[in-house]
Amino acid sequence: MTERADTPAASPAPASATADEYAWLVGFEGDWRDTWWNRDFLDLMARRLDLGAVHAALDVGCGVGHWGRTLLPFLHPEATLVGIDQEASFVTQASAQAEAHALASRTSYRVAQAEALPLPDASVDFATCQTVLMHVADPLRVIREMRRVLRPGGRLLVVEPNNFAEKAAMLVAAPGLSRAERLALLTLEATCEDGKRALGRGDSSVGEHLPTLFQEAGLVGIQVHQSDKCAALLPPYEAPEQREELRQMLTWIDGGVWLGAGGTRDETQALFLAGGGDPADFDALWTLALREAQAFREAAIARTLSGARGITCYLVSGRAP
Ligand SMILES: C[S@@+](CC[C@H](N)C(=O)[O-])C[C@H]1O[C@@H](n2cnc3c(N)ncnc32)[C@H](O)[C@@H]1O
Repeated sequence: MTERADTPAASPAPASATADEYAWLVGFEGDWRDTWWNRDFLDLMARRLDLGAVHAALDVGCGVGHWGRTLLPFLHPEATLVGIDQEASFVTQASAQAEAHALASRTSYRVAQAEALPLPDASVDFATCQTVLMHVADPLRVIREMRRVLRPGGRLLVVEPNNFAEKAAMLVAAPGLSRAERLALLTLEATCEDGKRALGRGDSSVGEHLPTLFQEAGLVGIQVHQSDKCAALLPPYEAPEQREELRQMLTWIDGGVWLGAGGTRDETQALFLAGGGDPADFDALWTLALREAQAFREAAIARTLSGARGITCYLVSGRAP
């Protein structure tokens, strides 16, 4: 789950793709987010969290509805789900996709802020979000708000990454980088994550803090799990989901987006400076980040890139007392 930009749905094929270089990346039926989960793991989690008993669910920061639709089959067969998102265009798409999946009668989507949910107190028995708290200024406030709408005994499930740990995992297998360069890129990652927090744009590694935040919000029975899915890459990438993972990474690289906490050059520089980075260091770090990205791209196209690429994605759950 190298979620780098605020991307609710998979991006299109790489913009600068030539047919020859990227033709082999096709074949995965679904969204990049479908590569994040093993079905049998979700089934296990659903049993652990007794999701089959859920009748009324809430998906906060639902985007185009992907996470809610992923979970719906695990809830009670008659369960209904409300999705909210601050972006009106995503809400429209979520409704259209629910229609397309014959789920319109069980789902409803509306525009709202996670910090001020348009639901009464104690009105749902399950509230959840996926890769949303990593984008908000005050995750504790959102967790408290989600707790407010839970019935006593209701369950909160939050899925968020530790992207700093994931970046370290990716760098272990990054082609052509010295140890000093890997550490320099981790410094860039840490500084940009600090900058993102300082600017109130969220914490890309918020997953690490969730159990503490749940406790502060007064939730009980807190459980912490990790998704068992890794974005492993093994040439010649026969599994369609490996090709989908590469397609997403190459889309970002070709769009000038670093596979780190930043984004484009300007976005990364803004985060780096806000995080207290020395302006004199930025150009050299950005050149290194581009070299990392190009080495990734060339090794992928040459079918030599490989690695376990562990995904540090936490699932933290708790109950309203
Ligand atoms: C990375 S997307 C995840 C979408 C969806 N949860 C999924 O996993 O497919 C983050 C979403 O959170 C929404 N979001 C971020 N901050 C929000 C806030 N304060 N209130 C409501 N929605 C928010 C964004 O508009 C975006 O759709």
